[in-house]
Amino acid sequence: MTDRGSAPSRFYLTTPIYYVNARPHLGHAYSTIACDALARRKRAMGVETWFLTGTDEHGQKIERSAKLAGCSPQEFADKISGEFRGLWDRLGLTYDDFIRTTEPRHVHRVQRLFATLRDKGYIYKGSYTGQYCVSDEAYVDGPPGAICPDCGRATETVNEENYFFKLSAFERKLLEFYDENPGFVEPESTRREVISFVRGGLKDLSVSRTTFDWGIPVPGDEKHVVYVWLDALANYITALGYGSDDPQDQEKFRKFWPADLHLIGKEISRFHCVYWPAFLMAAGLPLPRKVFANGWLLFDQGKMSKSRGNIVRAETVAEVLGADALRYFLLREIPFGQDGNFSFDALVQRYNADLANGYGNLVSRVVNMVHKYFGGVMPEAGAETQAETALRASAGRAMAAFGPVFDQLNFSEALKSLWALVAETDGYLTANAPWKKPPDRSEADHAALQARVLATAAEAIRIITALAYPIAPDAAAKVWRQLGQGELADAAKNNFLNHLAWGGLKPGTKFGEPAPLFPRAEKDAVERMQKLEEENQRSAVEAASNASAQAAMASPEVKAPTEAKPAQKTAAAAEPPAPKFAEAPAPKAAATVAAAEPVPAEATAAASAEPQYIAIDDLAKVDLRVAQILVAERIPKADKLLRLEVDLGYEKRQILAGIAQYYEPEKLIGRKIVIVANLAPRKMRGLESNGMLLAASLEGGAPVLAGFLEEVPLGARLK
Ligand code: MSP
Repeated sequence: MTDRGSAPSRFYLTTPIYYVNARPHLGHAYSTIACDALARRKRAMGVETWFLTGTDEHGQKIERSAKLAGCSPQEFADKISGEFRGLWDRLGLTYDDFIRTTEPRHVHRVQRLFATLRDKGYIYKGSYTGQYCVSDEAYVDGPPGAICPDCGRATETVNEENYFFKLSAFERKLLEFYDENPGFVEPESTRREVISFVRGGLKDLSVSRTTFDWGIPVPGDEKHVVYVWLDALANYITALGYGSDDPQDQEKFRKFWPADLHLIGKEISRFHCVYWPAFLMAAGLPLPRKVFANGWLLFDQGKMSKSRGNIVRAETVAEVLGADALRYFLLREIPFGQDGNFSFDALVQRYNADLANGYGNLVSRVVNMVHKYFGGVMPEAGAETQAETALRASAGRAMAAFGPVFDQLNFSEALKSLWALVAETDGYLTANAPWKKPPDRSEADHAALQARVLATAAEAIRIITALAYPIAPDAAAKVWRQLGQGELADAAKNNFLNHLAWGGLKPGTKFGEPAPLFPRAEKDAVERMQKLEEENQRSAVEAASNASAQAAMASPEVKAPTEAKPAQKTAAAAEPPAPKFAEAPAPKAAATVAAAEPVPAEATAAASAEPQYIAIDDLAKVDLRVAQILVAERIPKADKLLRLEVDLGYEKRQILAGIAQYYEPEKLIGRKIVIVANLAPRKMRGLESNGMLLAASLEGGAPVLAGFLEEVPLGARLK
């Protein structure tokens, strides 16, 4: 991590700042834990380190989420940001600063940055008509209705006056920069993608929005708010003090900028490796030394995300196995930079093999034997035999190799080789069996062997523990005490990793009391974690459902349409007969409603049936409306059902739809659909469904949702 002459005595690293539209899950914890491990190692090496994390709180996505939750965007952001911060604290993450983009310090400094870019001639006024993906807060090329190439969700058409940033002016400069700084983007796969994106040509980028106001006002033209990605990316400099008049802030900015490492998820590399360097070049600021894109945590075969409904919370793992187990698993199991599966089974298996039976058991055997045979005092090792020389040499190799591999962010390789030393130490102990005196060995020889073997094994454990500290800090602190080394936190402040060498555990050192490190996980550990997640998801679904019901009632925007009355949530004595659109003649596919239950047989009835005519008045009884999907998520233990929250323009409501086997929930968000708006409400799985979606039903029952090619306003009636 020393590309482009990083000052070795300072290190500034950042996580992405997390959107506050949803609570934190393991996917978010992943980069934050990796940053924490790096920060801990740097500090313990005597490097002056600044570790920044925070929350990204502006933009249309947050504004909409807040509306759904029935509160102001600020209240909403306060709550979720607090949850992120609370979780990081609970996991013991050692961030130096937590920035929120709604803080005044950030707001003012972003305005300064915007003004600087404008003053330097890189920002001009224009207008944008095109597609926008609210979920990614990204502009997308394509016709109305185009699907976002990054997340697969439907885009929305935007037509508004904007300020533009002259991104096109940086195409050549960026390509030259990547060329001169091959380590700027890692891993290589991301670097290639970034370069090919820029080679494909850069268009100027809209950097303000005017159709909503949850953002930082553009200085001097306050009907515009700064585009959320310019606002968010700037956190890396505003948190240090860029744009502040306070000399202390200015000093911190000078001291730590440019960043040594921006750790990000791979899907946001374009923003960090193209837009961000271009903004910085335009502002005349130095560029970060490295952007490293980590892969995704997958769960049940898909990217772990709230909208897919396949999240696991860090709290669950921490509660059952401890935070160190989570850190170790994430960094050991998945080669950093690649996608990797998370599973409770794999977690428990690795926990038992590497932590409970491996490292934990080794420490407990050695510390207990030092207590048993030497009254808890580190014995004098005496003269080495070949076995000790070999183990000492292995520890030396581990000390030399671990740092460089770790600093390349190759955590899993670093841990793999460190755990080879755990296994070797374990093997050494077993081969020399200090607990067993063969009859032909004298008492004195046996005592000498015990001293030599236990002192050597204890020293190997000390080395292993010191190196493992950034990954398993709680366990390492316990072992440090058991080895009589005092408080590891103090050692870390005194750069203990910088002068780590064999022989630090001195004879005569009084060991601490043995204490369990990683108790073996029993069979029920997986079930306990699964249960905690199910309970949490159930209560989250209920809470969301209550909140949106309340929001719908309380929303000042709820205006009954003049044309027809939407379904009354409480009335509806008898359910009207299901509309039989399916019976309209159609050659291969028939329109049907994507209801909660499997599509009824009559709804897919053969197209060859005799036409049954209805009067125009019958059709008029069915209130068909254009709605937009705002939220789509799976319902625990209901394989076929999705819970949707849809916006009709005049109100929002919840619909349960039996399309979970055919549609990824996250791809539905933003999509405009047709619903039967006056269907009587009904309850399924304890949740109320208020309407039905219209869909074509293909052979085999697969639904294809009805939609529009042209722009249609929400709530428009179909007739
Ligand atoms: N707010 C932007 C980032 C702005 S940085 C100036 C954002 N926020 S996010 O909350 O959607 O995502 C934050 C980070 O969490 C991203 O790096 C993303 O990749 C990461 N993850 C979210 N889910 C994840 C997984 N399932 N797996 C790994 N990381 C994932 O994007």
